[in-house]
Amino acid sequence: MQLILAPMQGLCDDVMRDLLTRIGGYDECVSEFVRITHTVHSRATWLKHIPEIATGNKTFAGTPCTVQLLGSDADNMAVNALEAVRFGADKIDLNFGCPAPTVNKHKGGAVLLKEPELIFHIVKTLRERLPAHIPLTGKMRLGFEDKSLALECAAAIADGGACGLTVHARTKVEGYEPPAHWDWVRKIREAVDIPVTANGDVFSLKDYLEIKETSGCDSVMIGRGAVIRPDLARQIKQYEAGNAVSEADFAEIAGWIRLFFDLCLAKESNNKYPVARLKQWLGMMKKAYAPAQELFEQVRPIKEADEVRRILAVFEQTQI
Ligand SMILES: Cc1cc2nc3c(=O)[nH]c(=O)nc-3n(C[C@H](O)[C@H](O)[C@H](O)COP(=O)(O)O)c2cc1C
Repeated sequence: MQLILAPMQGLCDDVMRDLLTRIGGYDECVSEFVRITHTVHSRATWLKHIPEIATGNKTFAGTPCTVQLLGSDADNMAVNALEAVRFGADKIDLNFGCPAPTVNKHKGGAVLLKEPELIFHIVKTLRERLPAHIPLTGKMRLGFEDKSLALECAAAIADGGACGLTVHARTKVEGYEPPAHWDWVRKIREAVDIPVTANGDVFSLKDYLEIKETSGCDSVMIGRGAVIRPDLARQIKQYEAGNAVSEADFAEIAGWIRLFFDLCLAKESNNKYPVARLKQWLGMMKKAYAPAQELFEQVRPIKEADEVRRILAVFEQTQI
């Protein structure tokens, strides 16, 4: 079985990928999408989005990181994919699921699910132009307005030459509304002859067992649940190894929070990034942990990184 940390634009950047893969359980992670329009990105741009490409495509903990592209101009996507490979990328994933209106307006992401033949053309073009040893995969939703083209889109990705497909089990119009239709992942898995990864609404070990059972997939991708419960993949791996499952206590989580903040500061210390990212994360974790709510309230009014750092140090001591 494989556990994959989902690409999440604006949430799971290199620092979050670093932290979550250190905590453990993930076999692979995927970068936030890199949007391809009419330009060819420079090395600096690739490194800004995916610094992992300079370190063997691995996070600090050694977890492989896949580069995700989003666009609809097959030629330019191929040129950019080749550049990414030249700078170090060793696996490329294509985004056919982003629901953002700006992206869709420019013919990127989920809107392509209305045009399976264009999806086929994009995948085929990239497969033909990329070196054979570079794996190419796709990620899709079940459709745009409805699911009527779900199987066609999946077939387009497989027939275009992708060696794997992740299915976020909702249409674009369903947004992030539960439930995710895990039964549709099974339909797709049974229809294509490439490995399918199931994705959508895995927030607990129980959800993981159910998505596996319903979809029949051995490979599962986790997005928001990975951020809300940073040790979720570790719990799943403990379970799969036949070991006792132990949930992290908040003393351990408090250490991860401080580490995360330090990693953010190391990346960009002279702007709002560290404090904003910490608040974003606590804002999500507070759904699962009462102490995260308490800490969120403490840092919410604070803007200065030094003061936040002090609050985190005191907070960590109180959790021991
Ligand atoms: C904030 C956010 C950003 C996302 N960005 C991307 C992205 O860059 N590329 C992508 O393929 N999917 C993206 N997704 C979708 C996730 O990868 C995933 O398919 C979706 O969240 C469902 O999984 P989950 O229920 O485990 O979160 C994003 C989701 C969220 C919540």
